[in-house]
Amino acid sequence: MCGIVGYTGHQDAYNVVINGLRRLEYRGYDSAGIVLDTDNGSFEVAKTKGKVDDLVAVSENLKGRATVGMGHTRWATHGVPSDRNSHPHISNNGKLALVHNGIIENFDAIKTILTDKGFTFKSETDTEVLVNLIQYIMDTKPELDFSIAVRFALNEVYGAYAITVMHADYPGVLVVARLGSPLAIGLGNQEYFIASDASPFVEFTKEAIYLEEGHMATISLEKGVDIRSIKDNSKIDPVVQELKLNIEQIEKGGYEHFMLKEIFEQPKSIHDTMRGRLLVNEGIIKMAGICDHLEKFNNAGRIIIIACGTSWHAGLIGEYLIEEFARIPVEVEYASEFRYRNPIITEKDVVIAISQSGETADTMAALKLAKEKGAFIYGICNVVDSSISRITDAGSYTHAGPEIGVASTKAFTAQLTVLSMIALKLGSHNGTLSTGEFRNLIAELYAIPKKIEEVLETTHDTVKEIAKNYIGAQNFLYLGRGYNFPAALEGALKLKEISYIHAEGYPAAEMKHGPIALIDENMPIVIISPRKGHYDKIVSNVQEIKARKGQVIAIVNKGDDQVTAMADYLIEIPETSECFSPIVASVPLQLLAYYIAVYRGANVDQPRNLAKSVTVE
Ligand code: M6R
Repeated sequence: MCGIVGYTGHQDAYNVVINGLRRLEYRGYDSAGIVLDTDNGSFEVAKTKGKVDDLVAVSENLKGRATVGMGHTRWATHGVPSDRNSHPHISNNGKLALVHNGIIENFDAIKTILTDKGFTFKSETDTEVLVNLIQYIMDTKPELDFSIAVRFALNEVYGAYAITVMHADYPGVLVVARLGSPLAIGLGNQEYFIASDASPFVEFTKEAIYLEEGHMATISLEKGVDIRSIKDNSKIDPVVQELKLNIEQIEKGGYEHFMLKEIFEQPKSIHDTMRGRLLVNEGIIKMAGICDHLEKFNNAGRIIIIACGTSWHAGLIGEYLIEEFARIPVEVEYASEFRYRNPIITEKDVVIAISQSGETADTMAALKLAKEKGAFIYGICNVVDSSISRITDAGSYTHAGPEIGVASTKAFTAQLTVLSMIALKLGSHNGTLSTGEFRNLIAELYAIPKKIEEVLETTHDTVKEIAKNYIGAQNFLYLGRGYNFPAALEGALKLKEISYIHAEGYPAAEMKHGPIALIDENMPIVIISPRKGHYDKIVSNVQEIKARKGQVIAIVNKGDDQVTAMADYLIEIPETSECFSPIVASVPLQLLAYYIAVYRGANVDQPRNLAKSVTVE
């Protein structure tokens, strides 16, 4: 989704903004722009469809011209990606510049009113309407201060936004506001940074204020950061946080892509997820969020898991885990469906939201709905202090470290690790798991990082070779049973996201109810077939595929014989309990998608049309 960077200070604003935009590239975008408040009191604007490199090509002459400015990477909502629709947008009188992440839902009605007043519009965006609304308010009420006019305008719009606004008559001042989309303010030494997340300014300062929902701030070197409520202008005391993020975590560290780096980080990230929580020698799990609320979970009528995309796949595996080990009924819902279907939610329900970014608009809205209805809401997020983590009653961070590649990899396996710990803890607490079973399972879970190390070592070259055969594939089918059915869904999602090959995940047994019609000698089928978990049934499924000449790429355990005898390509992984096998099996699936995409020349870290945090619905 759109990225925002702003700066006021003593450095070259061009460099700070451009470098900051590069750090936000991972969020996904289709155009970019910059505006600087130059020393002669006028705005210099450059914007273009394309990437930050394209922006640099048309704006390098702006280097060294200003110490105040802001930039934007746009993910199109209103109007196609084009130079005209790119941000920043400038008001009709040329005095105001605005960048925006989100959607102004009533922009059309406001546009009609402004058009009647004589305003003209160069773009199809909702953002250009907002900047002109601010101008209109300042024109009609000249006594109003710039920030007050912004506040008035924001009280006229509804939707979701994070904005930064500059006014040519207020040099050095940035006005920012947030409703639904994140915004952080970095506090430097005689300088301030604005950004959609802290990554653009982490090398300059470790102190930041995360703007809260419904708050705005006026920022200048003279007056510092003045935070107010958008609604009633009441003053708000800033909460300054120390950033834990460091620069190495957001760089590629010698890997060709962030996605490959993140796949290879999984032994460590899973270990970090368990660190201090899964104490294998003591035979305990002590994870604060869950341990403090065990009775809440135990007494729950049911658990509802809400999420989107990859996190939804993790939720499905969570359902299997919690129902198997804790015997509490679980439902898993797409957040976007849940929020609009008038669901039955009671005070006895526990709602778990899973979100890597913690900013997904649909998940956030579904969670708010559940909260309104009195459910206990629990978050599983990767990004510390993200919006979702802040509105939940309790939760567990996944601690996978920053995930920059748009395709989620290490965050997914960390989510599975957290869900495993939750299920095992609940089961041991309510007695559905015996002490012996619990101890065996936690020992197995603890061994997963080592097994993933082994998978990375032993399957990397094999998967690379297999991938070469499928550069021209048009379709893929991914099959699995039990715990590995959601793993098949996730494998298919990874492939389509980054390689643009159509792929479907299916429960292997469902194949005969439809997808089998697609199978011929051109159809590659990835089948997850570990020995533990319906192995005999999977063997029959492979036979059915081979009888129709489908090409089988099988993920098997070492020493497998029956599937091995029939498969066209084999990827061998170490054996583990069925319930943890999706964590291990996901790694070669991620590598397969990655290499097919790389060989097809796709932009793996920033796939077309996709965004890392989906902050619009
Ligand atoms: O940040 P979230 O986990 O809430 O994001 C949900 C989905 O947008 C996300 O998982 C998406 O499907 C990824 N691109 C998957 O790789």
